[in-house]
Amino acid sequence: MRLLMLANPGANRVYAAHAMTMAAAELAVCAPGAREVTPRTVAGVSYLGFETDALDADEADRTAALRLIARQSTFLALFEERADGLLAPIEVADPDLFEDDLVTIPKYQGKTNEQFTRLLLNVTLAAVERPLDEHATVLDPLCGRGTTLTTAWTAGLNAAGVEVDEKAVEQLSAFLKTYLRRKRVKHKADMVPVRREGKSLGRKFEATVHLPDRDLTMGVFTGDTRSSAKLWGKRRFDAVVTDAPYGVVHGSRSDVVGTTGKRDRSPAGLLKGSLGVWAHQLKEGGALGLAWNTHGLGRDDLVAMVEETGLVVRNDGPWLGFDHRVDSAIQRDVLVAVKPLETDPAH
Ligand SMILES: C[S@@+](CC[C@H](N)C(=O)[O-])C[C@H]1O[C@@H](n2cnc3c(N)ncnc32)[C@H](O)[C@@H]1O
Repeated sequence: MRLLMLANPGANRVYAAHAMTMAAAELAVCAPGAREVTPRTVAGVSYLGFETDALDADEADRTAALRLIARQSTFLALFEERADGLLAPIEVADPDLFEDDLVTIPKYQGKTNEQFTRLLLNVTLAAVERPLDEHATVLDPLCGRGTTLTTAWTAGLNAAGVEVDEKAVEQLSAFLKTYLRRKRVKHKADMVPVRREGKSLGRKFEATVHLPDRDLTMGVFTGDTRSSAKLWGKRRFDAVVTDAPYGVVHGSRSDVVGTTGKRDRSPAGLLKGSLGVWAHQLKEGGALGLAWNTHGLGRDDLVAMVEETGLVVRNDGPWLGFDHRVDSAIQRDVLVAVKPLETDPAH
């Protein structure tokens, strides 16, 4: 069956000329059954065209395939392109657990674009080589005010974070409490002090929402990401998804907090000190998805740094299709890597 996905026009704002090639790479990575994924223009409107047999399958497989397509970060509507050239709309149920405004209401400097965050989460989850059950959790170890975390909730995953800026965590807490109350979602949410062996280790935001069919949790520690394993202890995650600081200055401050606790302008230094920690926090078969500014740290150098931690980088075909310009100071790319399943020590 030949399908045409109408992309959200907002994608053009985020990725400029790259919008449809990014959408094509995302779909190719996320929907292995999609063939010949190519941007198409029909009567002056841009679509993503692809071929699939998934919708001809039985009801359960068809529903699963449609959910996957509906979860694409740029998805707006789906059509079948018939042999006579007419487009037949296909009914697609909304797969999200929350409305968009959970992610879009907060507006602040340094926020990661919502659509891009969804793409980063989608392609990282596509690389995970373990079943994702209701306990599956995504860690964003540089979580800011939580765009990845609320996006994970929307997609039905539990969320965990670490952020050095305590104010950002407080703002996330304040927003979520108001939002959940206003939407009448049953929940518990609070900032709590963290103490270990008599010492204060900062604070943690803890939240649980009770949805009709299931609960979802969120936990966010204030602290340095290099201490993430110490803060989270034995806990391991199904995916680590993060948008690294860009080394740019917002107002008078750089967005990178270096080893000495002082602000510096080297995301490379921060990543070098953190990647091993994050890799350690992944479950076997779990995946890391990282967005970063390639001005200052080239893809090959980052691939080498990630591979040193023992993760295997997805570095071919559509996995190389996410490089795009954000502004004159930021050229952003996405790297996805998987933690291999432990091989039998007897072999
Ligand atoms: C690109 S922003 C991520 C924004 C986030 N995705 C959002 O939408 O709110 C990077 C974040 O990393 C944080 N950060 C920088 N250095 C850090 C460090 N050493 N430990 C923990 N967080 C750090 C910054 O404070 C910033 O919030």
